[in-house]
Amino acid sequence: MLNPLAKALAKRQAQGGSLVDLTESNPTRVGLPLPEPGLLVTPAAFSYEPEPAGLPSAREAVASHLATRGAVVSPKHLILSASTSEAYSWLFKLLCDPGDNVLVPAPSYPLFQYLTRLEGVELWPYRLPRAHGFGLDVEAIAAARDVRSRAVLVVNPGNPTGHYLHKGELAALAELCADTDMALISDEVFSDFAWDEEPDRVATVAGHSLPMLTFSLSGLSKVAGQPGLKVGWMHVGGPMAERDEALARLELIADTYLSVGTPVQQALPGLLAHVPRFQAALLERVKENRRRLVAARPAGATWDLVPAHGGWSAMLRIPQEPGEEATCLALLDEGLLVQPGYFYDYDGGAGLVLSLLPPPDVFEAALSPLVRVLGR
Ligand SMILES: Cc1ncc(COP(=O)(O)O)c(C=O)c1O
Repeated sequence: MLNPLAKALAKRQAQGGSLVDLTESNPTRVGLPLPEPGLLVTPAAFSYEPEPAGLPSAREAVASHLATRGAVVSPKHLILSASTSEAYSWLFKLLCDPGDNVLVPAPSYPLFQYLTRLEGVELWPYRLPRAHGFGLDVEAIAAARDVRSRAVLVVNPGNPTGHYLHKGELAALAELCADTDMALISDEVFSDFAWDEEPDRVATVAGHSLPMLTFSLSGLSKVAGQPGLKVGWMHVGGPMAERDEALARLELIADTYLSVGTPVQQALPGLLAHVPRFQAALLERVKENRRRLVAARPAGATWDLVPAHGGWSAMLRIPQEPGEEATCLALLDEGLLVQPGYFYDYDGGAGLVLSLLPPPDVFEAALSPLVRVLGR
């Protein structure tokens, strides 16, 4: 069944109405630099080299990439998968029995409910308090857990909230996880996309000495803007004995699927060499679009931007009345597509989520209908 927004969108598209799409989140469709195609087409691509955890050369390339982010890690503690989503499914198999639960931030990226359900695992939300700019509230996590909670998921920085994990929050979380025997799963797919400097920011938990099992997840999907290449990675950390057992078990899970293609693993060093060019262009794009959005807001407007420090989206707080759906429908009438906050389990007010990826001329074209409709 289509929701009212999807129905209205289908109707507009059927009528050939113009559309400025501020839900575009596909980094390959917005005119950003692409890697060299020749990287993937080499004679070696046809030699099959099954390595459950990933080719050593590919894992070394990921370790070198993480080193540029300040994380000194051994390639032996890295496991490659086809995507971060697949890494989650492996972690739920590793950590949970059917009926166990994992603690997941809200608001957040909406795929977790499917990823958990498909593994027979329950998702228990913990709220990110709006008052803290959607930062982590470890007391809320402690209140959400029970004896069957196996892991805490942290999205660093939050999607779409753009709040990074800080050292104090990590220390409190580590204490809770160690006391209650929970692992930490840190989703760091947007971590490279910081818009500013912040004291005590934790870019990755990889390489930190922590008292519980930790899994740091990322991949080419966001890091290189290449979701279609299907390479993700996770770093496994924590107390040595637990870490080594987790690595051995993950290797068995990975061996069951062998899902990462050989050609893309062989190309990984070259693909990661392209990352700085892609990320510089993307960061310039999202910062410029956000700057334009801030500049377009009339003084005294009843809507505002949620303070954030990184990522690919902007969140707006809007008045409760007429609310998210009515506002999205009114914007669509004006030819502008945005997402309502409820897609991300946003509560405690009304919100809109805008992609900052579109080219500046497209983004600029969205601003006057946005300001007009929100000003009504
Ligand atoms: C926070 C977050 N984690 C994970 C993913 C999935 O990434 P992948 O393409 O590696 O499965 C996304 C995709 O949008 C995301 O927003």
